[in-house]
Amino acid sequence: MADEEEFVQDTRGTVTRRDFLKLLAAGGIALAFTPFVPWGKFMPDPTNTVANKVKITLPGGGIANIKTFPVDSSEVVTYPVTGDPVLDSEPFRKWQLVRLPASMGGTADDVSAFRCYSMVCLHLWCLWKYWPQPGRMRGECPCHGSMYRMQDGLAFAGPASLQAPPSNVLPILYLEADGNGDLWILPAIWNVNDNGIVGYGRFLQKS
Ligand code: FES
Repeated sequence: MADEEEFVQDTRGTVTRRDFLKLLAAGGIALAFTPFVPWGKFMPDPTNTVANKVKITLPGGGIANIKTFPVDSSEVVTYPVTGDPVLDSEPFRKWQLVRLPASMGGTADDVSAFRCYSMVCLHLWCLWKYWPQPGRMRGECPCHGSMYRMQDGLAFAGPASLQAPPSNVLPILYLEADGNGDLWILPAIWNVNDNGIVGYGRFLQKS
């Protein structure tokens, strides 16, 4: 009966007692490392929001643009950018900007061709990456083999796929394009029902 009750709450998007216990456990691990790691700077603040939309700057310094970004490819982007090179190199600020393969709508001349997901694997926080090769076209984590589908960020294989929602769906950044085709990141809300919480997950929104 208790399990049934928790499942109903999960599908509604509520953080359940089980989720709370997982967060508590994660907090315990974080505290164990407190003397060694500047967690205050590192961990995402779930109450924090980013106020303004920002253009996506690519590692080479250019702006991501629909007209020039190749179909079925990806780039690592940093968000939110602070301007401090140490903070900006943190894994929790790294996102995979993916232009989907043609079979998933990547040839569309609009923002629907793109996705942008947190690179922090939801299992044990290694960094996954996008593999565009035929037969793959998915995110893969090198540590224990979790795989993520690019349409919506859902883990479909490996240990992350066995975790209960919201810890089986990658956090996402929502995008828009301007008249020149430049891509922008819309203001983020670090909540499991919005952009998600980096390293913890996101509830898939019902369409
Ligand atoms: S950390 Fe990615 S599968 Fe374990």
